[in-house]
Amino acid sequence: MAKRPVVVATRHFPEAVEARLQALFDARLNPEDNALSNEELIARAQGADGLMVAATGKVDADLIARLPQSIRIIATFSVGYEHIDVAAAERRGILVTNTPDVLTDATAEIALLLLLGAARRAHEGAAMLRQAQWTGWTPTQLMGIGLTGKRLGIVGMGRIGQAMAQRARANGMEIHYYNRTRLPVEQEQGATYYSTVEALLPQAQFLSLHCPLTPQTTKLMDARRIAMLPNGAVLVNTARGGIVDDDALIAALKSGKLAAAGLDVFDGEPKVDPRYFAIENAFILPHMGSATIETRNAMGFRAIENLKTVLIDGKQPPHRVMA
Ligand code: DGY
Repeated sequence: MAKRPVVVATRHFPEAVEARLQALFDARLNPEDNALSNEELIARAQGADGLMVAATGKVDADLIARLPQSIRIIATFSVGYEHIDVAAAERRGILVTNTPDVLTDATAEIALLLLLGAARRAHEGAAMLRQAQWTGWTPTQLMGIGLTGKRLGIVGMGRIGQAMAQRARANGMEIHYYNRTRLPVEQEQGATYYSTVEALLPQAQFLSLHCPLTPQTTKLMDARRIAMLPNGAVLVNTARGGIVDDDALIAALKSGKLAAAGLDVFDGEPKVDPRYFAIENAFILPHMGSATIETRNAMGFRAIENLKTVLIDGKQPPHRVMA
């Protein structure tokens, strides 16, 4: 029997995904889901042809330089790929792929959950109940902000931004957006376009971030831009924590400049600025955007499709990303 390509999985992936990895490849799995040091990963990668990684592990230029010559592809189990130095991989002739499209709906669902949860004070209500503090309904208890008729500003109108817009429209919201390029009119579905983030912000009673983390978007929502939002706005981030300046956001939540924030991602994850834990108007989740069974399986199958196309079929992968 011909030797099967060897693939190293840096994390423990869903059962169906690992079963497919094992069916196609000589798969070196990580069933304990141990966070691998660079040294451990390099040792496991000896003689391997490909890596399946996740957004939790940095694959920087130093690690790429030390990978064995045999590695031909790094397939990340994520749509975001800022954790991989793609230029360094290209210099070594290693292909990098991601998993677009399949996590669009799941991420938009979490963005809507955060929007509603932050606006309607869901975590304060849940905490009141669980701490046995609820003494009964009162006319003024936990009054939040309604969505109907409000303006939602979306920064980044790619697949996830558009899926969020669709869900927000179903909740009676008006869509305003910034994107590097304007969408074709039929795709806008009545949304209002702004050619700069600064022009969008004063309109955004709610703001949802859906842009990738790049040098241009790092700390995009800083104190100056948060000040441009209407007083009492609600900010939602399901993209990357680094897009928001934590000091500025925390100050705005404490002062009441912002009514609330819904956050699924944090700068420096898995560390979370502990100040968020004590802020009642921050509705926070541990990076769960893509965490549905259907989506995690689909992400895995998409990563495997990329590995198979390169390592078994000898073709260009369908979801290659470039520096
Ligand atoms: C991604 O795919 O980039 C997500 O953040 C992981 O859920």
